[in-house]
Amino acid sequence: MEQSTSKIIGEPMNRVDGPAKVTGRAEYAGDHQVEGGIAEGFIVEAPAAPGKIVALDVADAEAADGVVSVLTYKTVPQQKPYGSPEDEGRFTQSHAVLENDRVRHFGEPVALVVAETLEQARYAASLVRVEIETEEGVFNALDHKDQAEKPDSVDGLDEVDTQDGDFETQFSQSTHKLEVSYLTGAQHASAMEPHVTVAQWDGETLIVHMAIQIVASAVSAYANTLGIDEANVRIISPFTGGGFGSKLGVHNEAILAALAAKQCGKAVRVAQTRRNLFANGPHRSRHLQELKLGADASGKLRAVRHSSLASMARNYPFAEAPASPTRASYAADAIHTFHRMVKADIPKVDSMRAPGEAIGTLTYETAIDELAEMCGVDPVEFRILNEPTQDPTSGHAFADRRLLDCIRTGAAKFGWSGRVKPGSRMAGRKLVGRGMAVAIRPNTLSPAQAEVKLAADGRLVARLDMTDIGTGTYTILTQIAAETLSMPASQVLVQLGDSRFPETAGSGGSFGASSSGSALLDACAKLKSALSERLTESGVSANAFAMKDGRVLANGKRIELADLIGAEGLSADGAVDPDNHAKGQADYSYGVQFAEVEVDADTGEIRVRRLLGVFDAGRILNRKTARSQLMGGMIFGIGGALLEESLMDDRFGSFMTRDFAEYHIAVNRDVPDLEVHILDGYSEHSNPLGSKGIGELGICGAGPAIANAVHEATGVRVRKFPVHMEDLL
Ligand code: MOS
Repeated sequence: MEQSTSKIIGEPMNRVDGPAKVTGRAEYAGDHQVEGGIAEGFIVEAPAAPGKIVALDVADAEAADGVVSVLTYKTVPQQKPYGSPEDEGRFTQSHAVLENDRVRHFGEPVALVVAETLEQARYAASLVRVEIETEEGVFNALDHKDQAEKPDSVDGLDEVDTQDGDFETQFSQSTHKLEVSYLTGAQHASAMEPHVTVAQWDGETLIVHMAIQIVASAVSAYANTLGIDEANVRIISPFTGGGFGSKLGVHNEAILAALAAKQCGKAVRVAQTRRNLFANGPHRSRHLQELKLGADASGKLRAVRHSSLASMARNYPFAEAPASPTRASYAADAIHTFHRMVKADIPKVDSMRAPGEAIGTLTYETAIDELAEMCGVDPVEFRILNEPTQDPTSGHAFADRRLLDCIRTGAAKFGWSGRVKPGSRMAGRKLVGRGMAVAIRPNTLSPAQAEVKLAADGRLVARLDMTDIGTGTYTILTQIAAETLSMPASQVLVQLGDSRFPETAGSGGSFGASSSGSALLDACAKLKSALSERLTESGVSANAFAMKDGRVLANGKRIELADLIGAEGLSADGAVDPDNHAKGQADYSYGVQFAEVEVDADTGEIRVRRLLGVFDAGRILNRKTARSQLMGGMIFGIGGALLEESLMDDRFGSFMTRDFAEYHIAVNRDVPDLEVHILDGYSEHSNPLGSKGIGELGICGAGPAIANAVHEATGVRVRKFPVHMEDLL
C-alpha cells in the first residue's frame, strides 16, 4: 500500500519568511548589531572625473565630533589593482577603492569618514576638501563611435555577434523594408534596500553582513581585492531587500567597510545613501540600437539586422546584449546581430533586470509591430506567421517552446480584435490604443549544491548559500523539500545566504530557483533513499512513505524516526550539473503581453489602462510567488516604456537624477488593471524540476506592448525610451 504523497510544489503557499519580514524580525544587512557597537562610515564622493586628486584635506573632518577615522588613498593598505586583467570577470575581480590618486568616474569615493554616529560621519564628510585635476573623459558612447570595440563577451550569450544567412541579398530583395534606430536611456536598479555592508574582523577573518545576490563570488572578490585567503572571508546574507542585478557583485561600500573595520579595529557599517548609489551602484547603460528588417509581400521575414552600441565602464567587463531576443524570436532567411561597446569614464555598467531582453524586446518588438503594419498583417498574425520551427540562429531544437500557446491564450483573454487605424479610437478627450509584444528570455541552469539534515524529531534543515532577494526562495525551497520527503512544510527549515553553506550561483539571470531548487531536490532524493534503506534494514520494505511528527508512516505502520536514524540524524548532499541538461537545445522562457493605453489628446499624457501577460515558464514552483514576480516585471515594463531614466550630464559624466523625485519608478497610480496568466507546464529538458526562469520574464515584452499601443492611440512611432508626453505632441 502506498502512502499518498501530497503535492506541495506549485501550491500558492504563503511566504515562509513573511511573518519575520512584516514583524521586523528578518535581519537585513543594515540591521545587524554587533556587541561593542558599530561605527558608521560615510562616503565622500569625487566632485569631478576622470582625473587626479591634487589636494585632499581631511584635517577638519578628523577633528570633528565623534570621528573615529578618515580613510583616504594615503591611509588604506595596498589592494590588488582594480580590474586586473588576469581576474576572471567582474564579480570576482579586484574592486579596490581609495586605491591611489586617480579618480575613475564622477562620484567615486575619495574618502570614507568613520564616526560613532551616522550624523557625525555625514557632517564630518562635508568638511573634507578635495580638488581634482580633470582630464578629458569619455561619457557618451554616441560621441565616440570611432572608439567602439567588439567586447570579449556579452552577458548571457555564447557569441557576441552572429551572422546567419545572406543579409544584404535578403534585405535588398525584400518587399517591405524598415530601417530604424532607437535610443534607450540609462537606468538604475533602485532596489528598496540600498547597498549596505557591516564588516568586522575576528583576527585574520573578515566577517561581513551584506546585501548581495551571489555569496560565493563576493567571497572571491573580497579575497582577491584584499589579498587574503577565501577561507578567511565569511559572508552572511540571509535577506536582501531587492537586487535587480545591482547586487550580483560587490560594490564600493562593501570594500570600504572591510578596510574601515580593519583601520578602526571595530565593526563598521557603510550604507550607500540613495544619492550615492546613482554613482556608486551599477547602472544599465544607455544604448543606440539600429534595426534593419525586411519582409516579403505576405509578411514573411526575410532579413533581420540588429546592432547595439553602448558604454562599458573602463576595467569592468560587462556588455549587455540587446540583440539577444532577436536571435530566437522569429524565423528569417538571414539574421545578423552585433554588439559594440565604448570604454567610458563612467560608474559601473552592469546587469539590470533582464539585461539584453528588457531593452532588446523594447526595440525589436516595436520594430516588428511597425513592419507588420507596413505588410498589412495583424501583429498577432505576423508573429504566428513567423514562428520558427527550430532556433533560427543556432539551428538547435527548441526545448519546449510554447510561444504560440501564449499568444493565442493572450489574444483570447485580452479580447484582441485586430488593429484599428492609428488615432481613430477616442474615449472623450482620450486617444485609446492597443498593442502587443512577445516576451522571450533564455533559460539557464547554474551549478549548485545543497545539504539537508533530518533530525530525529522529524525536522529537516536545508542549507545552501543561495539568497532570497525578495523573490520567495525560502518558500519554494521549503516546498521542494517538503514534497520530496513527503513531510509537512512546517517541519522544514531552509537556511540561506551564508558562505559556509554549500555553494550555489545565487540569485541572478533568472536561474536561481531552478538551480538551487534542483540541487535541493537531489539532496532530498538522496536523503529519501537513505531513509528507505534504513526502513528496509528495519524490516519495513516500502516504495513510498511519509513523515510526520517524528514518525515515518510506511505500509500502514508508524515507525519512530529516532529508531531509524538515531540521535545523530541523517544527512545528505545534493548537486545539479548544468552539463547534464538541455544539451544542444535552445532553452527559453516565453510570454506575450497585451496593453491598452490612453493618451490625453490635449496634453499627451500617457496612462496605461490594461496590461495582460501570459507566460510559459515550465513547471511553476509556487503560483503566488511566481505571479508576484511576473507582476513586478510587468510593472518595470511600464517604467521602462514610460518612466525610468537616469540622465547624465555629458559635460561631466555625472548622473543628474539621483533620487526618487527625479528617477521615476512606476507607483500604484501608474499601474492599471494588470492580469498575469501562467500556463501549466513541465519543461523536462531544462532541469530536474522541470521549471524555467521566471524572474525577468515579465519585464520582457511589457514595454513594447505599451509603445505599440501608444502608436495605435496616436499614430506616433516613438524611437526613444522612455516615451514622454512631449514626444507625442
Ligand atoms: Mo539579474 S539583472 O542577473 O539580477
